[in-house]
Amino acid sequence: MEETNETFCVGIDLGTSRSSISASNGERHIIDSYVGWPVDLVARKLIKKPVLIGREALDSRSMLDLRRPLERGLIKEGSEKDERAVQEILRHLMSLSGVKQKGKSRQKVRAVIGVPAEAFRVSKQRLRGAMDGIADSVMLVSEPFAVAYGLEALLHAMIIDIGAGTADFCVMQGRYPTEEDQRTLPNAGDSIDEQLAKLIREHHPDAQFSIHMIRDWKEKWSFVGQPKDPVLITVPVKGKATELDITNEMRAACESILPPVCETMIDLITRVEPEYQSKVRNNIIVAGGSSLIAGLTEALNKALSELGGGRTSVVKDPIFAGSDGGLEIARDASTADWEKLSA
Ligand SMILES: Nc1ncnc2c1ncn2[C@@H]1O[C@H](COP(=O)(O)OP(=O)(O)O)[C@@H](O)[C@H]1O
Ligand SMILES: [Mg+2]
Repeated sequence: MEETNETFCVGIDLGTSRSSISASNGERHIIDSYVGWPVDLVARKLIKKPVLIGREALDSRSMLDLRRPLERGLIKEGSEKDERAVQEILRHLMSLSGVKQKGKSRQKVRAVIGVPAEAFRVSKQRLRGAMDGIADSVMLVSEPFAVAYGLEALLHAMIIDIGAGTADFCVMQGRYPTEEDQRTLPNAGDSIDEQLAKLIREHHPDAQFSIHMIRDWKEKWSFVGQPKDPVLITVPVKGKATELDITNEMRAACESILPPVCETMIDLITRVEPEYQSKVRNNIIVAGGSSLIAGLTEALNKALSELGGGRTSVVKDPIFAGSDGGLEIARDASTADWEKLSA
């Protein structure tokens, strides 16, 4: 389909672990948020490319100066390399979307980028810099707001987006969310991985494993509450393949995010006008990769029962919920919105 003279709209979800794009031509893509440059002459000869992005970068990590530039959801302070890495991710996503960025048929690009609520304050300027030359108009929105918009959960709803680097909260009250309506916590997938590694190391000091193995185990067997089956892994212990039961460690690591997440959820509810609190309690939507932890919604519902009950659900398409929402915003925003919100 030709879109030559039309405006090309995209929604981008810039995540710590994965970033996705949804474009107005129907293209949707997701990449791992990794960027790497060959470390030396040998690596350059082997790799034959100036830079690798996504899974390709992760798989060749021994040959690369590998960056995960959005760790903790921010472009890391003062790192020019990380800023360049973010730019590479954005460029790559744009090229996957099939936008025509060169020559006569160059399209006017409007991009809505979802970032963690806190990054919004800290590295707005840097992110704008990274979008220079990639889009004509850029709007930065908080990730959970993009999710809310895409789901049309715009009134009396709370989105909790639990990703890798951060858990982002946003209460929707029928208008553009303010800072008071939003929160960001560092308790999310990465902190679970760190906890799990620490607990296994404590209980099995001779077991050998990497953080990538930890993440794989978690993505297979994560749970909170009562275990359904024991979690059994096989790892080298002093070189010998050994089976370990890590059920308790898995539970403790996954449950480590519950107290701060529940506390923030409840705190945001208490700030809602009293007559609407029960509506919000019954309309809590969990998004992000860590929303797949078994038993999570039950645990959140249990915390809500202390406030008189509530209902939590998980988004249907956690991978593209943020970028699809961003695309909706890009399509709906009027010229005045772009000017107002991107100021
Ligand atoms: N089945 C699963 N159980 C628990 N955690 C998961 C599962 N699948 C993915 N994750 C975790 O979700 C996080 C990635 O979620 P995502 O929303 O893509 O994060 P971000 O937006 O920060 O990039 C990672 O920490 C990953 O390990
Ligand atoms: Mg995310």
